[in-house]
Amino acid sequence: MRTYRLALIGFGNVGQGLATILRDYGPTIAAQHGADYRIVAVNTVRKGRVYNPEGLDPGQLLQNCGVNQRLDDIPAPYTGWTVEQVIRESNAEVIIEMTASDLLTGQPATDYIRAAIAQDRHVITTNKGPVGLFYPELSAMAAERGVHLGVEGTVMGGTPVLRVGRELLAAAGVERIQGILNGTTNYILTRMAEGESYEAALREAQKKGYAEANPSADVDGYDAAIKIVILTNLLLGIPLKLENVEREGIGNLTTRDIVRAQQVGEVWKLVAWVERTPDMVKAAVRPIRLPATHPLAGISGATNAVTFVTKLLGEVTIVGPGAGRVETGYAVLSDLLEIHHRLNG
Ligand code: HSE
Repeated sequence: MRTYRLALIGFGNVGQGLATILRDYGPTIAAQHGADYRIVAVNTVRKGRVYNPEGLDPGQLLQNCGVNQRLDDIPAPYTGWTVEQVIRESNAEVIIEMTASDLLTGQPATDYIRAAIAQDRHVITTNKGPVGLFYPELSAMAAERGVHLGVEGTVMGGTPVLRVGRELLAAAGVERIQGILNGTTNYILTRMAEGESYEAALREAQKKGYAEANPSADVDGYDAAIKIVILTNLLLGIPLKLENVEREGIGNLTTRDIVRAQQVGEVWKLVAWVERTPDMVKAAVRPIRLPATHPLAGISGATNAVTFVTKLLGEVTIVGPGAGRVETGYAVLSDLLEIHHRLNG
């Protein structure tokens, strides 16, 4: 059995999803994989900071979140440590960065990731800002220090897309990637088609833990755009930037538009795509009215889908949850197990 001590930077939807998985399945994971995951530090802006080198009970962390929203009244030898202090001085082997995304600057997450790699810690992040903006630099730095940088949760939550794309489709000749990559907007459009108002549907998406801290990132198309940037960088090896993605959100769509489409059996979806030819790359995010027969038309709620159009396999489509607490927490677990399997051959 190998023990991994984890420091959680951020304890919002994803952190709580991970804690739920470790509370409910930790013993099973240990028995099946020989990996014992122990949360030793949790560091948040609003709920406090707590560090116990021996480990913190995930159930207790979750309970405190539910009761008084404070983590630092859990009995532990240390409270109030800064993120930098946790990275430098704690006994955590893996730093899990899950702070709110700033898709334009990638901060403060990027500095945390740089600091953690510099301290030879493995890093897992579900944060799209650092990966969309600085992946080449961060992955080179991790390779140089001999540590792992896990980013699976940045696109489609725990639905396996990045590793499948990079490893199993690497030789298939991917020419185009297209899909529904934002759960919040897909949920809103689905609920509006069912008769709900935009505002109420957005509130529901926030309550279910799908939306970004600032939901403009979802509804204005930035989140889908940065995910296309991540897919393009990681799978196509092309250094596309957010500003190269043509972007339009769902803000101009009215209930009337949605009902009118429905009357003729069509459906509005926020679709993201990137296409490469030998001499150009084109990427965009845009609401599109699709016929009911289109493969993306039936993708509803917070479900996402991505289609890889390849030379050797034709179209390969992956469908699964794109947002959600446990759904994204699972992506962190899959990166943790990837680290474990790499370290143990
Ligand atoms: N806000 C994002 C979404 C979360 O709705 O898809 C997952 O990246």
